[in-house]
Amino acid sequence: MSNRTVIVVWAQDRAGAIGRDNTIPWRVPEDMARFRELTTGHAVIMGRKTWESLPPKFRPLPGRRNVVITRSSGFVAEGAEIVGGLAEALDLAGDTVVIMGGGQIYSAAMESATHLRITEIDMLVEGADAFAPEVDPYAWDAAESGEWLTSSSGVRYRFVDYVRHALVRG
Ligand SMILES: NC(=O)c1ccc[n+]([C@@H]2O[C@H](COP(=O)([O-])OP(=O)(O)OC[C@H]3O[C@@H](n4cnc5c(N)ncnc54)[C@H](OP(=O)(O)O)[C@@H]3O)[C@@H](O)[C@H]2O)c1
Repeated sequence: MSNRTVIVVWAQDRAGAIGRDNTIPWRVPEDMARFRELTTGHAVIMGRKTWESLPPKFRPLPGRRNVVITRSSGFVAEGAEIVGGLAEALDLAGDTVVIMGGGQIYSAAMESATHLRITEIDMLVEGADAFAPEVDPYAWDAAESGEWLTSSSGVRYRFVDYVRHALVRG
């Protein structure tokens, strides 16, 4: 295993939904603030659809190296680096890299992941079409489970962090 720290960050509803119609179906400013904190200064790796889900005025995400994965050789994403797969994306990145979605890229990244930083959203989204991967309890230790909090938007949420077993046991 490499020494790289691969942090996978997502927010999910109670059923593991992460998106609908290429958007995130809730608004939790506190979670966005935490995301900014976790990612600033690092490379962020995302799928082409997640790149396109970012409002143009917010992309590339400032203060971060934006890396976009696509199979389309002609894809242009101003201010981002384009790669053809996850391995290439990880090779570009430094010692610490953050995987920021979406569903396809999370699934592909789970085997390389060392840390999961999950936000649980106390909602059940109808019509969701993108989902978080399974967190295998044999592979992951819940390192820290935060208290349930209420967002300024009224939504209840909490932060749950996982560390891969092997990292805990040395
Ligand atoms: N709740 C959260 O924390 C969170 C975070 C991020 C995103 N989201 C949501 O997730 C949804 C998007 O997720 P998604 O699963 O639909 O899309 P995605 O993972 O963002 O992007 C999928 C695209 O990535 C490229 N790709 C995937 N696997 C690849 C591979 N092995 N090699 C090369 N390219 C590959 C393909 O691009 P091409 O088609 O161009 O080849 C594919 O269409 C949206 O609703 C978004 O809002 C939620």
